[in-house]
Amino acid sequence: MTIDKQLPSTRTAELDSICLKAEVIPVITIERLEDAVPLGRALVEGGLTVLEITLRTDCALDAIKRMKEALPGASIGVGTVLTPAQYRQAEQVGADFVVTPGATEALYRYGVESPVPMLPGVSTISELMTGWQYGYRRFKFFPAESSGGAKAIKAFGAPIPEARFCPTGGITVDNAESYLSLPNVMCVGGSWLTPKAMVDAEDWDGIRELARQAAERFHH
Ligand code: 3PG
Repeated sequence: MTIDKQLPSTRTAELDSICLKAEVIPVITIERLEDAVPLGRALVEGGLTVLEITLRTDCALDAIKRMKEALPGASIGVGTVLTPAQYRQAEQVGADFVVTPGATEALYRYGVESPVPMLPGVSTISELMTGWQYGYRRFKFFPAESSGGAKAIKAFGAPIPEARFCPTGGITVDNAESYLSLPNVMCVGGSWLTPKAMVDAEDWDGIRELARQAAERFHH
């Protein structure tokens, strides 16, 4: 591994200003393009203004474009980015940030040059150390619950106290606080705010209410 160039610290500051706006980031997979805007609007109206849309469906990029246009007050992240090519697609649709489930050298290198900040996924201290060497200071901790949970993040804080995390994977309304109470956790993410049954039923009022409750309960 040769590291020619490190991430500029402005990218870390940009991520901080996005994550400061929300303690909870809904992780959203859009199955039907027409759901994108009403679903996003319900979450934003409920008080959750930072959203992650995963690239797990064919309509994801179009959904992100529509949400960027219709919801100017929201910060839209593109998630499940596995390759530099997908990172580039996220840039092209106007992503405010990029989230990856894990981190490869190729992604770390691409992120160093990109104008769009990345929250790289890590689940071990060695992965964290690699990102650290590239200049990354903010990470997704994934899959959180099966990788040691809040205890692991607390332990990461001993050798690398400056790193801060957004854990996702198995976070619920019941365990979110155990993460959010740690000094090195900036926010949590998860799919529990957009239950499939509610999305399928187009229950936007119900989702707005779920978002409102989460925004109120986990307020800074
Ligand atoms: C993610 O990519 O962050 C996860 O799929 C979200 O995990 P969850 O469905 O367990 O909340």
